[in-house]
This record gives sequence, structure tokens and C-alpha cells, in this order.
Amino acid sequence: MTKVLRTISELRAWRNGLPAGARLGLVPTMGALHAGHISLMELARTHCDMVIASIFVNPLQFGPQEDLARYPRPIEKDIAMLEAAGVDALFLPEHTEVYPPDNSTYVVEEAVSLPLCGALRPGHFRGVATVVLKLFNLTQPHFAFFGQKDAQQCAVIERMVRDLNVPVEIVRGAIVREEDGLAMSSRNVYLEPVQRLIAPLLYQSLLAASAAYEAGERDAGKLEAIGRAVLADEPGINVQYWEVRDRRSLAPLQAVGADGCLIALAAYLGKTRLIDNIALGT
Ligand code: PAJ
Repeated sequence: MTKVLRTISELRAWRNGLPAGARLGLVPTMGALHAGHISLMELARTHCDMVIASIFVNPLQFGPQEDLARYPRPIEKDIAMLEAAGVDALFLPEHTEVYPPDNSTYVVEEAVSLPLCGALRPGHFRGVATVVLKLFNLTQPHFAFFGQKDAQQCAVIERMVRDLNVPVEIVRGAIVREEDGLAMSSRNVYLEPVQRLIAPLLYQSLLAASAAYEAGERDAGKLEAIGRAVLADEPGINVQYWEVRDRRSLAPLQAVGADGCLIALAAYLGKTRLIDNIALGT
């Protein structure tokens, strides 16, 4: 049974009751769970004795024009999926439980959170870092699991953990994709049928660059041109960014060196904003 904990005091009591020495893994989510989330639960199972998930649609990380109000919240289905995945507990707080009305303390990372999604979604990573640090403090996990799907989010959290000496080990889980290559996302349900048909082009643009890389291309500008060309003829895809970056710092690269690179993209299909990425080299 997945124990549903709705308040901080319930969470603390559960945490205090764990056997001494039990390794605890946390998987933070915003719900509308899919196989990508569940892969993180399974990864947590392999690292830890106990696994706790959280579901909290964190208003602090949504911009005023974003989809906070319509973000999907199928909570009964989510709980059933967590049960099936053998997750021990779910932290499912109300907004007021997480943020006191006069909350005035925030976590701001000032380097890896700036480019890419950070530049286009002001305040987004401040909201993510703040809620994730709060979840770490509340849950006190030994390990926390995040998806490579949100590569910049991983980088921001890893930097925060290092800089603030948070006693948790971050583990990244691989991107889970639909059969046609579209990265799974809670936001895919927004896609209209025609948009859903063209959405796999995003991953194909990453694969085109990956193939060129495998064939020896190291010039970042050329890799970018190859990837963007895959999307150029599709008027239904409005690319926000498509960039070759350093994997850890997310700084721009002229050429891909021995450390490989991250290629990250964001694009609108109608009103739906999707992100995807691929890591090249190891
Ligand atoms: P959410 O979008 O619900 O994602 C929860 C976790 O699932 C994140 O670590 C995300 O990277 C991972 N994930 C999503 N899609 C995935 C996929 N296709 N394959 C693998 N992992 C995937 O990310 C958030 O919530 C929030 O920002 C949060 C960290 C919970 C803070 O509010």
C-alpha cells in the first residue's frame, strides 16, 4: 500500500518511523504520471529500501501566462500507478501546507538556470529550486531522482545541492519515449491530433544531429544547422531554442570536445510547449 501523507506532520511522523539505516529515495513530481515518472520510481527502488514520491503542482514555477490552472490532475489514477510501482509513500500536500501565506524565502541559482528555459521562463527555476529544497528538507532522503528529460532542471538541482551542501545524492534517470520517439510528458495530452503527428520530429531533429556527430561532425554550428533543418519545413513547429551546450555548465560551445555535449530544444506546437534533449559523447 502506498501511504498517502497530506500534511507536513504526517510526513515527518512517517519519516521518523522508518527503520534506522533504511535508505530513502525521493521522486518529486507534479502528477499526471506516465511511464517516464514510473521509470524514476523503479530506478529509486533499485537504489533504496524505501521510496517516497511527491505530487505537488508548484505554482511558484509557473509564469502568469502558463498552464497552472489547466495542468492535468488525475490523482486517483496517479495513486493507482504509484501502488502498482510499489512506492511506499506519497506526499500530497495542499498549497497552503507548502507555502505559508507570508512565505518570503526563495532559492535562486545564478548560472546554469540563466540560459535556455531559464531565459524564456523567468522565475521558473527559482520556483523549482525553492520547492525541491523544501521537499529535501521535509523528506530528508538519501537519494533523489530526476529525469534527464528536464536536463537543465537536473543541472540546476545538482548545482544547488553542491553549493548549499545539501546531504542528498542526485540520480538522473534516462528519458522515456513513446514508440515514435516523442519524449513522454504530462503536457502531451494538450496536443491536438495533427500536432501529435508532427511532434516526433523534435526527437528526429536531435537524432539527425546525433548521426552527424557519430559520423565525425564536431562543429556546433553545423550540428545545429543539421538539426534545425529537420524542423524548418514544418510550419506547425515553432522552435524557441535548439542549442549545442556544455553538459554540466550549459554554456554555449563552438565545437564539441572530449566531454561531449547536450543538445537541448524547446518548441511550441500551437499553444503547447515541449522540450527534449540528447546527450552526445560520454
Ligand atoms: P514533472 O514534470 O512532473 O516531472 C517529474 C520528474 O519526472 C522530473 O524529474 C522529470 O524530469 C521526470 N520526467 C518527466 N518526463 C520524463 C520522461 N519522459 N522520461 C524520464 N523522466 C521524465 O519536473 C517536475 O515535475 C517539477 O519541476 C518538480 C521537479 C517536481 C518540481 O516541482
